[in-house]
Amino acid sequence: MSVEKSKLTEEIARLKREKNAVILAHYYTTPDVQAVADFLGDSLALSQQAQTTDADIILFAGVNFMAETAKVLSPSKKVLLPEPEAGCSLAQSCDAAEFARFKSRYPGYKVVSYVNTSVGVKALTDICCTSSNALKVVESIPADQPLIFAPDRNLGSYIQRLTGRENMVLWDGACHVHEEFSLERILELKSEHPDARIVVHPECREYIVRIADFVGSTAAILAYCGRSTASEFIVVTESGILAEMRKRYPEKNFIPAPPLDSTCGCNECRFMKMVTLEKIASALRDEAPEVIIDEDVRKAAERSIVNMIEIS
Ligand code: 13P
Ligand code: SF4
Repeated sequence: MSVEKSKLTEEIARLKREKNAVILAHYYTTPDVQAVADFLGDSLALSQQAQTTDADIILFAGVNFMAETAKVLSPSKKVLLPEPEAGCSLAQSCDAAEFARFKSRYPGYKVVSYVNTSVGVKALTDICCTSSNALKVVESIPADQPLIFAPDRNLGSYIQRLTGRENMVLWDGACHVHEEFSLERILELKSEHPDARIVVHPECREYIVRIADFVGSTAAILAYCGRSTASEFIVVTESGILAEMRKRYPEKNFIPAPPLDSTCGCNECRFMKMVTLEKIASALRDEAPEVIIDEDVRKAAERSIVNMIEIS
């Protein structure tokens, strides 16, 4: 580790102690950021952690919908987002006002939204889900109840295929990272590594999901790689997860799947990679930028997240 990085790491540890702060990080952040986290997880685990922590300050090393979720669940705590421009293409694809108009076209439908949405969309949602629990959430709703599923059309159609549910209208959004994987490049990797298992996130397109040996959320993929007898895996999700895979299972080989035009041989979420050690240290020092949510909107959004956590 460079002198600069180790100084920042020490400063972050000191500020956390002094301010009773906790750092929650998603697996897609950089290895440097993951190393200073108190808790590393997928979207579901992070929202559960945000609900139960007794820290005074939650610093969210992730993207803005995750920090908003933490603030909705823990309104009395200070929630810091080191890079406020760290958005999410899925959340951005679903504007709350547009979604309200869309919803009004389907009276009587219940709304299931992926947590990758703004707090305004959550306020229009009956129950949230993450990729870990989307199937469980949809199955918790009577089969004859029509549903709107937003904003990820790939996750929505995957759940539709699993449940055979036809009464489900999908919002047309997608994740810029998971949509871009190239079938051609994955099949090339498979022919070079015939014994490798292909592990795929359900935000990927249907033709990628169909060739998977395992489909699951970030945490589910990690668990599968641990229990599988295979020693090689072609990993079709954001490449930040590789650091945790290699740490947990050093004897196994993890091969990142690239999009067609990748120069680095992998696929990265540009938003998650905006979070740096410098920005974390500065946010803890200044206790800013802070996530602030209008109380009426927060209350309206809370129910949809709590409903999800209760059935997870
Ligand atoms: P999970 O954390 O549920 O796997 O979702 C992945 C993702 O894209 C987070 O933004
Ligand atoms: Fe959003 Fe995709 Fe990045 Fe996750 S990986 S934060 S879904 S853009």
